[in-house]
Amino acid sequence: MSDKIAYSREGDIAVLTVQNPPVNALSHAVRQGLWDRMDQAEADAGVRAVLIVGEGRAFFAGADITEFGKPPLEPHLPDLINRIEASPLLVVASMHGVSLGGGLEVALGCHYRIAVPSAKVGLPEVHLGLIPGAGGTQRLPRLTGGEAALDVMTTGRHIGAGKAHDLGIIDVVKDGDQMHNGLAYAQKLLDQGATRRPVSEMDPPAAIDWDAAFEATLARGRGQISPAWCVRAVQASVEKPFADGLKAERQIFYDLMQTDQRQGMIHAFFSERAVSNLPELKDVKPRAVQHIGVIGGGTMGAGIATAALLAGLEVTLLEMSAEAGQAARDRIERNLSGAVKRGKITPKQHDQILTHTLLVVTNYSKLSDVDLVIEAVFEDMEVKKQVFAELDRVCKPGAILASNTSYLDIDEIAATTSRPGDVLGLHFFSPAHVMKLLEVVVGDKTAPDVTATGFALGKMLSKISVRAGVCDGFIGNRILATYRQAADQMILDGASPYDIDAALEEFGFAMGPFAVADLAGLDIGWAVRKRKRAEGHAPKRDATYADTLCEQGHFGQKTGKGYYDYAAGNKARVPNPDVLPMIEADRARLGITPRTFTHEEIVRRYMAAMVNESAKVVGEGIARRPLDVDMTLLFGYGFPRYRGGPLKWADIVGLAPLLQDIKSYAAEDPDFWASAPLLEELVADNKTFDDLNKKG
Ligand code: 3HC
Ligand code: NAI
Repeated sequence: MSDKIAYSREGDIAVLTVQNPPVNALSHAVRQGLWDRMDQAEADAGVRAVLIVGEGRAFFAGADITEFGKPPLEPHLPDLINRIEASPLLVVASMHGVSLGGGLEVALGCHYRIAVPSAKVGLPEVHLGLIPGAGGTQRLPRLTGGEAALDVMTTGRHIGAGKAHDLGIIDVVKDGDQMHNGLAYAQKLLDQGATRRPVSEMDPPAAIDWDAAFEATLARGRGQISPAWCVRAVQASVEKPFADGLKAERQIFYDLMQTDQRQGMIHAFFSERAVSNLPELKDVKPRAVQHIGVIGGGTMGAGIATAALLAGLEVTLLEMSAEAGQAARDRIERNLSGAVKRGKITPKQHDQILTHTLLVVTNYSKLSDVDLVIEAVFEDMEVKKQVFAELDRVCKPGAILASNTSYLDIDEIAATTSRPGDVLGLHFFSPAHVMKLLEVVVGDKTAPDVTATGFALGKMLSKISVRAGVCDGFIGNRILATYRQAADQMILDGASPYDIDAALEEFGFAMGPFAVADLAGLDIGWAVRKRKRAEGHAPKRDATYADTLCEQGHFGQKTGKGYYDYAAGNKARVPNPDVLPMIEADRARLGITPRTFTHEEIVRRYMAAMVNESAKVVGEGIARRPLDVDMTLLFGYGFPRYRGGPLKWADIVGLAPLLQDIKSYAAEDPDFWASAPLLEELVADNKTFDDLNKKG
């Protein structure tokens, strides 16, 4: 018999204790164990009630996601839950930690539910490209009503026990320990002569306008389909008898299980967890970090300082002058006020942080006792070298010296100090207190415990940290530069920035590349282009329309105009009518006859450029694994999560046809479209990028 479910007796109550660490996922062994232990309880003389309770961190975290995509083994979860609900005994769930997905569905199959106040429940299947598939779409609406149930399952969010009680999901919320509470509650129910109370026998909720709800949810999903299918499943709970509703739910669940979106989202789930898990750092102890220094309090420095302050770290920020220092303090104060509004900190904490934990200075000597310092001054090698020379002079031995540079060579910066082993890149994304990605850029000489500290800091700041090697732009900005260049070339050949943005927004990006450029500020790309031209690295067909925009003072959203005109507000963008004539002038100068591009062609070229450069980045070891690239693009560049990342997307559409397309584009521009050796190898060996992830 399964050892995942312990069986014990407390008077008339049989206790089924789930022991499947770390999170009590409902694996095959757990399902079988629960089934067998229910049989045992029903055969056990004198047992009148069953208590299901979890050991460790959770009641149940849901179905075992590692089993998805493999042939399902009996007993299937919906059958197990029906079997629990149909038991002649009184069945009670005592919940603590999380009860998610199938975990909440098990609880809904029990006759009564009690939870500790810290417990959280939810149906997060949409985040895996699925809908609840074990009765959740049929039972939850019977307890909460249709609209509340749809809100729970289409958002997938976790709900606290108090709110779940208000919604009718949990019967009792009580402080204490789940075992003790559960036993007392079950005993009380028995003493009161309470009877079985199957949710499936309750009345279904009232009908709503299902078609309107489906369409609205589909539109909110920005291409993701599973939330909208929750609507159709809940509709079945109203329109069909319970057993038929379950069948309808199961059909939708299985159909979604076959989709690329399910594959992409499950890849994202596991990669998000694997990305910061580096085998090389397994036994490396990070250095202690409590007090950090930040150099430069502009957009990035202020955001980085905010993130650190919100994580409870002490921050000393150095600016060039008292005036610049005050501007930095104001920026941080604005960020912290936003955190108060979002309920992340209290007004009291806000004031405390500004008066006690943040120090703004202009003198390097104040940095003598920081544990780690992050430089975020202008993107200029000479300025950075001067800063690092000062840091080398004043920082205590063992302090870590980090740069937030977007593109510059970390090894060159490290070489200006007497302690290159203590230097690394910590590349945040704007706004740094909001964006989840952190590239930990490891130089030639960076010591392993310095890298480990970069990851530890990322964890403290709740970031998704990705290891990157040194090259122009590291992982993300290097790949961005390439796919942006593909977009720029398409513009010269006849596409408009607005066609390109529309095509990529249809693909699932939150914003197309030209809308993003307007948001980030067109001056950033302008500076990079000027540097590349000075270094002799200009593209063969060098366009100037974007420079013209900048020369006229149009830097995007911050000046009110860029590729788009923002006169009516940042969300109400309209194409800037001056842009197309500038592009046409470039085409005329370069002797190009424009042609039309379909949205499909735009996406194909853009993605081909992204995948090809990503394969080079992995092949050169700048990213260790394909999943590192996938997570970089997902968390830093708005790549649609339901596609898993560019390399997961490439695996799904097929590497061979993609390579063929790249070779056909190479006929136009052999240098830009030179195929990545790693891509050639994978195609020749009939392998996928994901095969490389599995190698670890
Ligand atoms: N199945 C298999 N493994 C799971 C799992 C699950 N449902 N949930 C978590 N794990 C694994 C993680 O991969 C991780 O493994 P690792 O240590 O090897 O990396 C380990 O458990 C711990 O997870 P976290 O690092 O995420 O721990 P946290 O404490 O930060 O978070 C959690 C715990 C909130 C449970 C979070 O893991 C989570 O959200 N899990 C997914 C929950 C979910 O989506 N459930 C629905 C599943 S689908 C379903 O139930 C279908 C049904 O309707 C039929
Ligand atoms: P910014 O221009 O907003 O801020 C730079 C700040 O540094 C200014 O406040 C300036 O007064 C200060 N400064 C300049 N020289 C200094 C010195 N010697 N000592 C102390 N302070 C000094 O620039 P931003 O955008 O914050 O960028 C900073 C760095 O972060 C750059 O290296 C940039 O490439 C990088 N970065 C920028 C991102 C962005 O989206 N803006 C994203 C990720 C990295």
